[in-house]
Amino acid sequence: MIRAESVWESVGNTPLIRIKSLSERTGCDIYGKAEFLNPGGSIKDRAAKGMIQKAEADGRLELGGVIVEGTAGNTGIGLATLAAERGYRVIITMPNNQAKEKYQMLEAIGAEVRAVPPCPFANPNHFYHQAKRIAEEMPGAVWADQFENTANAQFHYDTTGPEILQQLDGQVDVLVAASGTGGTIGGTSTYLKEHKPDTTIIVTDPEGSGTHDYIKTGAFTGEGGSVTEGIGIKRLTANFARAVVDDALRITDRQMIDTLFHVARHDGLFLGTSSALNLYGAYAMARRYQGSGKKIVTFLCDHGSRYASKVLDKDWLTEKDLHPRLLE
Ligand SMILES: Cc1ncc(COP(=O)(O)O)c(C=O)c1O
Repeated sequence: MIRAESVWESVGNTPLIRIKSLSERTGCDIYGKAEFLNPGGSIKDRAAKGMIQKAEADGRLELGGVIVEGTAGNTGIGLATLAAERGYRVIITMPNNQAKEKYQMLEAIGAEVRAVPPCPFANPNHFYHQAKRIAEEMPGAVWADQFENTANAQFHYDTTGPEILQQLDGQVDVLVAASGTGGTIGGTSTYLKEHKPDTTIIVTDPEGSGTHDYIKTGAFTGEGGSVTEGIGIKRLTANFARAVVDDALRITDRQMIDTLFHVARHDGLFLGTSSALNLYGAYAMARRYQGSGKKIVTFLCDHGSRYASKVLDKDWLTEKDLHPRLLE
């Protein structure tokens, strides 16, 4: 049993869960790192802790200080979760099309949310640029900057990578991870390649994101769009630049949603959209290695309850043509 003397201390050390249904189908061991069990409910608590820790160590953040961040939601939730106990104020800019549960959660834990219309990154009104401006104009405020601040990937290098290797007694064959800021894959892939060099690293990417093509061709291209939240990007970030990646898989919303409901019904795990995308990627790799017993690890980034207003809404599923079918 893990005992924590503070919420701060309770970040990380998440269980690694073997996904029985997908493992039995493929004759490989597919494991999901249960990041939804972090105190703020997502993998982004790690990035939040890494960035707060660094700002405190640099003397930029003191009691009563303000943290500003642009986020799809989870990083904001992670920052506000940790800031409450430490006495910081948190201001969040985020696109206004994310699942409503994230805004509700942010409000519940005391963050100030400024929801902005989604727009291309080049537009100065993009949530990322707005966060930067707010921090610049507010004396003493710190812009967390999860995309370029490599305290994000560093925290995964220091914690997520070692936890996985220890949990599998060093026996990991494949790591599968989607990328938003690139912090997760940037830190974890580097750690695994240094300590278990024959680990294969696969980045999973939704439609409309450029990361898949970047790995395949060097260009951030990608058509269409995706209902997944928190992942996918069309530019190289400092955190992703650290990643050591062997190959990329582009995964459709159809594959993602069928996986989401498959593991809900067969494994009792109701997960968020990026977790389902990750699990489909792990499943696709396991099918390549069918019957080999390889150990394939991926991330269960957050819980499905955070998206209930979308994925459990029949009208939403009809509108997106995503009513679940049997997983192929
Ligand atoms: C639900 C979810 N999954 C995955 C990610 C991607 O993680 P990273 O930013 O470490 O690449 C995020 C990032 O915001 C997220 O919110």
